[in-house]
Amino acid sequence: MYLPEIDFLTFNDLPGILRLNASVSWSWPEDVIKSDLNNDSENETTYIGAFATTTEAPLLGYAVLGRENRRGVLMSLIIDKNFQRRGIGTQLLLAVSDCAMYLNFRRLMLRVRKSNSPAIALYNNMSFITEKVRRGYYSNGEDAIVMSAKLPLKVKIRT
Ligand SMILES: CC(C)(COP(=O)(O)OP(=O)(O)OC[C@H]1O[C@@H](n2cnc3c(N)ncnc32)[C@H](O)[C@@H]1OP(=O)(O)O)[C@@H](O)C(=O)NCCC(=O)NCCS
Repeated sequence: MYLPEIDFLTFNDLPGILRLNASVSWSWPEDVIKSDLNNDSENETTYIGAFATTTEAPLLGYAVLGRENRRGVLMSLIIDKNFQRRGIGTQLLLAVSDCAMYLNFRRLMLRVRKSNSPAIALYNNMSFITEKVRRGYYSNGEDAIVMSAKLPLKVKIRT
């Protein structure tokens, strides 16, 4: 397990965010992220990052909490490949859960590609349940699994 420092992200963290985005084949366009971080978008997003506790303090992962209608939505979650399976995704989701409750959300919703078994395993481990499947939701025709969880998120205890 790795215990990162978790904090809100600002415009200064843009290079770290873009570096993490480059590790996945999908991510929000740079313009959208810039405008979110400048608070001049209508998206009402909260960016939360996990930082290494070294002097360089690079960004090891980040999550984005957004709003759709009146629901809290996990818009993005990416962890540095070299730091995966060390509990950072879990810790970021717990921070997202705190922020979502502060914003008076009762549930957190997300969409995940049907083929993304690591992410689905993480979400199952944090008490998300499948609400429905949206056929052909992604631009390559892949289905999206819509999941949601009651807040606060809880990590399942494994026996
Ligand atoms: C999915 C992702 C965010 C998980 O982050 P992480 O920091 O590695 O997750 P954690 O270490 O907190 O994992 C917690 C639990 O989730 C499950 N899990 C996470 N990654 C897994 C994997 N590759 N295979 C199977 N189970 C996995 C396990 O149950 C794990 O507990 P364990 O390691 O004790 O077995 C990370 O793999 C990632 O950034 N992937 C690329 C981006 C992405 O797909 N984001 C999600 C978009 S919806």
